[in-house]
Amino acid sequence: MTPSPVLTPMLAPVLAIDGLVKRFGKRTILDGISMNVVPGEIVCLVGPSGTGKSTLLRCVNGLEDIQDGRIMFDGLMVRAPARDIIEVRKRIGMIFQQFNLYPHLTALQNVLLAPVVVHREDRRVVEARARELLDRVRLSHRIDAYPAQLSGGEQQRVAIARALATNPHMLMFDEPTSALDPETVGEVLAVMRDLAHEGRTMLVVTHEMRFAAEVGTRMVFMDQGKIVEEGNPRAMLAAPRTERAQRFLQTIQQ
Ligand SMILES: Nc1ncnc2c1ncn2[C@@H]1O[C@H](COP(=O)(O)OP(=O)(O)OP(=O)(O)O)[C@@H](O)[C@H]1O
Ligand SMILES: [Mg+2]
Repeated sequence: MTPSPVLTPMLAPVLAIDGLVKRFGKRTILDGISMNVVPGEIVCLVGPSGTGKSTLLRCVNGLEDIQDGRIMFDGLMVRAPARDIIEVRKRIGMIFQQFNLYPHLTALQNVLLAPVVVHREDRRVVEARARELLDRVRLSHRIDAYPAQLSGGEQQRVAIARALATNPHMLMFDEPTSALDPETVGEVLAVMRDLAHEGRTMLVVTHEMRFAAEVGTRMVFMDQGKIVEEGNPRAMLAAPRTERAQRFLQTIQQ
C-alpha cells in the first residue's frame, strides 16, 4: 500500500513578484527579481549599497514604474489603474529610514491622518485605534508631542504606529534603524520584534543581523539588481553558500 502523501498547508503568497525589471534610463537597477512573501513571513532583505533594495520596495508600493515583469499584492496588480494602487498602498504599511512624519502635526495627528483624510474613516473610531497603536509602540505618554520634541527612536515608533493605522496586510521597512543613535536602535527593534511575534507579515531591509537571526524567517541577499542567495537567516549567516554573500556578510558583521 502506498502511503498517503503528507498534506502540508500551502499559504497563498500575499506578495508575488515575477521577473521584475526596473531601469532608470539605460541602467538596469532590478534585473529579473522573482520572490514571494507568504502571510506571517519576516523576510530580511540585505545587500550592498546601490543594489536596488529601496527601489524594490518602491516598486512594490507602486511608487516606480516598471519595465518588465509583474507584481501582485493581495491578488491586486501593482501596475494597474490608479484605484488599485491606492488600495495596495492602504494594505502596505511603509516605514522609512527618515521617519517622514509631518512636523506640524502631533504624534496622534500623524497616526490619524491617513485613515481619516485619505481613507475617510470615522474619526472617533480611528482615534481610539490610534491611541491603542501608540500605546502598543510604548508611546502613550507622548501622544501630544510634535516630532521635533521626540527622539529619533520615538519618531520612528510613531512612524510604525502610523503605518499600522490603516490595518495593513504587510509592513515594509527600509533600514528603519540606520538613522538612529545606537541607544535608541534597541527600542525600535523591540517594537519590531513585538510585531513579528504577533504574526505580522514583514519585508525588512536591514543591516541588523542579530534581528534577522532572531526573528527573520528568510533572508534574501541581493547584489547588483539580482537575488544571489536566499535561505534561513541563521543558516545563511553561519555559512553563506555564495562567495558574494560571504564577503558582504563578513563586512557588515565586523
Ligand atoms: N530616481 C532615480 N533615478 C536614477 N537612479 C536612481 C534613482 N533611484 C535610485 N537610483 C539608482 O538605483 C540604484 C539602486 O538604488 P537603491 O536606492 O535602490 O539602492 P539600495 O540597495 O537601497 O542602496 P542603500 O543600501 O545605499 O540604501 C543606485 O545606483 C541609485 O543611484
Ligand atoms: Mg536603500
